[in-house]
Formats: sequence, structure tokens, C-alpha cells
Amino acid sequence: MNKILSAFFISLTIFMGFNAKAKEMDMSNKKVLVVYFSKTGEQYGVGNITEGNTAIIAKMVAEQTGADLFEIKLKNDTYPVEYKPLTEVALSEKKANARPGIADDVENFANYDVVFIGTPNWWADMPMALYTFIESNDWSGKTVAPFVTHEGSGLSSIPSKIKAATGAKMLDGMAIYGHVAQNDREQSKAEITNWLKKLGF
Ligand SMILES: Cc1cc2nc3c(=O)[nH]c(=O)nc-3n(C[C@H](O)[C@H](O)[C@H](O)COP(=O)(O)O)c2cc1C
Repeated sequence: MNKILSAFFISLTIFMGFNAKAKEMDMSNKKVLVVYFSKTGEQYGVGNITEGNTAIIAKMVAEQTGADLFEIKLKNDTYPVEYKPLTEVALSEKKANARPGIADDVENFANYDVVFIGTPNWWADMPMALYTFIESNDWSGKTVAPFVTHEGSGLSSIPSKIKAATGAKMLDGMAIYGHVAQNDREQSKAEITNWLKKLGF
């Protein structure tokens, strides 16, 4: 009886293992895009930066996946360079549910199968320009993988906000500290590799 039981559990384990593998997407023939928003200037815990935290991660994700890279830029960037005033402007934009104009569109967006969306965590949400971007594109048939840089809040509910706004199939998101992105490239790279592996890259 014991032998039968253990044979059953071994088969079950093997089956579940195969099943978990089968759930992973085959990314080998997918066209992949990394879209991100990121802010230079004074940022929390890192001082004055010339390359944004999310930008650093976005470039690493693009490098590791062979994806195209697109930065969401504001048409009229009037954001303060100092951190504190920036947080105030960002909060009032969030409260107003604003849609700041963005400078460019992605060329041939329809051709992409998988879109990584990279964003800083602003007030447990995305900068409102991300919504402008999302709402000006057609997400049907797309798979989205979100990544967030933050200073303690992690992903917050950003993945579900992206799901609601795009209606896309969502892959598990990654959260990484902004100061780690800025100051520890090796750790950042390792965290990204680990995450991408789980997504099937
Ligand atoms: C307007 C604003 C709001 C922020 N709100 C949060 C927050 O709610 N939770 C958090 O963990 N970090 C928050 N941060 C910190 C940023 O998420 C973090 O510094 C991020 O890495 C910045 O990315 P970037 O350099 O790509 O813009 C905020 C930063 C700014 C500028």
C-alpha cells in the first residue's frame, strides 16, 4: 500500500512539475518591447541623479530580453527638479486623474507580443503619463509584464491598475528598490535575471 501511495505521489509531483513548465510562455519567437517612464533630478535616497532608477532597470531588461526600448517623455516637462515639490505636483495630478500629454508614440506598437511596462512607484500608483500612454494604444492580444522601482512600497497595486487599464494578459511583476538600481548594478542585474527566468525568458 505504501509503495502504491509513494508511486502515486511521485507521479503527481512529476505531473505538477511538467504542468508548471507548460504554463510558462515560450518567449523565443515573441516580439518584445520595454516601455518606461523615469525621472532624473533629485530622487529619494539617491541625491541628484542623471539617469533615472527605472531607466537603469529598463535598459537591463531590454538587454537581457533583446527587446526594443521606448521612453515615455512628457510633451511639456514642467516637473520640479527637487524631490519634495515633485511629490506635491505628482499628488495633485493623481488626485485630478490627469492625463499629461506625451511626446511620441511607439512605432508599430501592433507588432509587439509582449510589453514590459517600467514605472516608478509614485504615491502607490504610476505617474499619470503612464495612463496617457496606455490609453493611447491598443492592447488587444498583448501580454504585459510590469516592473516598478520604489523606496519601500514595492509593486503596490500597480499591476492590477495596469491590468484594468490595458485588459492585457499579465505576467508576474518585479519590484526593485530605486537606490539598489542606482547604486548596485550587479544586484539589480541578478534580480532581473531571476525574474525573467521565471517568466520564461
Ligand atoms: C512623486 C514621487 C512619489 C513617490 N511615492 C512613492 C511611494 O508612494 N512609495 C515608494 O516606495 N516610493 C515612492 N517614491 C520613490 C520612487 O518610487 C523611487 O525613488 C523610484 O525609484 C524613482 O524612480 P525614477 O528615478 O525612475 O523616477 C516616490 C517618488 C516620487 C518622485
